[in-house]
Amino acid sequence: MATATAETELLIRTRRDLHQHPELGFQEHRTAGIVADRLRAAGYDVRTGIAETGVVGTLRGGAGGGPTLLLRADMDALPIQEETTHGFASTVAGQMHACGHDAHTAIGLAVAERLAARRERWGGTVKYVFQPAEEGGQGALRMIEQGVLDGVDRALGLHVWTGLPSGIVGVTPGPFMASAGEFEITIRGRGGHGAMPEQTIDAVMIGAQVVVALQSIVSRNVSPLESAVVTVSSFQAGKAFNVIADTARLLGTVRAFDVEACEELPRRMERIVAGVCQAMGAEYDFRYRQDTPPTVNDARMADVVRAAAEEVVGADRVRFGPEVRTMAAEDFGEFLLRVPGCYFFVGAMSEPKGAVHPHHSPHFDICEECMPVAVSVLEQAALRVLSATV
Ligand code: NI
Repeated sequence: MATATAETELLIRTRRDLHQHPELGFQEHRTAGIVADRLRAAGYDVRTGIAETGVVGTLRGGAGGGPTLLLRADMDALPIQEETTHGFASTVAGQMHACGHDAHTAIGLAVAERLAARRERWGGTVKYVFQPAEEGGQGALRMIEQGVLDGVDRALGLHVWTGLPSGIVGVTPGPFMASAGEFEITIRGRGGHGAMPEQTIDAVMIGAQVVVALQSIVSRNVSPLESAVVTVSSFQAGKAFNVIADTARLLGTVRAFDVEACEELPRRMERIVAGVCQAMGAEYDFRYRQDTPPTVNDARMADVVRAAAEEVVGADRVRFGPEVRTMAAEDFGEFLLRVPGCYFFVGAMSEPKGAVHPHHSPHFDICEECMPVAVSVLEQAALRVLSATV
């Protein structure tokens, strides 16, 4: 087994190498090659090319029995032009690891190697999934459709997170990250002269009513004890100061923690759009796409992660409970929809290191000291699942 220093050095080197060579969803060929080589060298049975660029490494423990545990790291970068001044900044114009998936891949490889080095001590089977296209590409769902969940009993994953100070572990039972859906509303009225509104059906005015009325869903239909977001992020209509627009196009996103709310929110939205448009004589087209389900943790698996984290970083550095939730979305929820598991955060924010920017910022960076913490917590949680009856 590697010494702690050699392992940390390799972790950082791997993360920086991946950071310099970011690849967008379903194009992670170089990354997948590195992952497959390292997993094979550690003794895993490796399958590549799952959902284009996904890699799965399977390893049986030497102690016999036990569950099959899926561990997952995502590999994709974002279409963002990096604006940091690192020596290891992205070498690819317009592409950047601005969410930390470079760290996830490096951490995943280190955990896979640690588990392999100790395989005589645990039972069950580890299925290490390196997933493409987490960022809006539904990579998790594509891999599930290819059968990666077959025979899997439990699932674990983590995100390095600049919303928490470096080395703090955040986990909660129940809903952890929100669902994400996107909508497009087209309102068709009748254009005309800006001075003769009585001859027109004003798509701008109707669109404005729709924007305001949609806000009543969260304030009046969702319980104040629940969380949901309806954001209209784009309103496109009209071109001239004296012409009433014939169409308006609204785009936006919907977030919720609750699986039933994911179905109910778009139904309510369409009722509002239909009602406003009908009242004002316009026609409409409502399109909704559910991208990601909420990420909902199993209570017992959240307890396993909490116990592992307390062992590694101490109870005072573990935040447990709903205050660590976020309305951001994550397609690990696809796995948790189907098997009990837990997704958690390892804080990556550090002011002295300048790692203070939000995920998806061109200035995004992590405090690399969070990586060995993440490795140890995930390894300890995995060992608890593999060697016990969780
Ligand atoms: Ni991410």
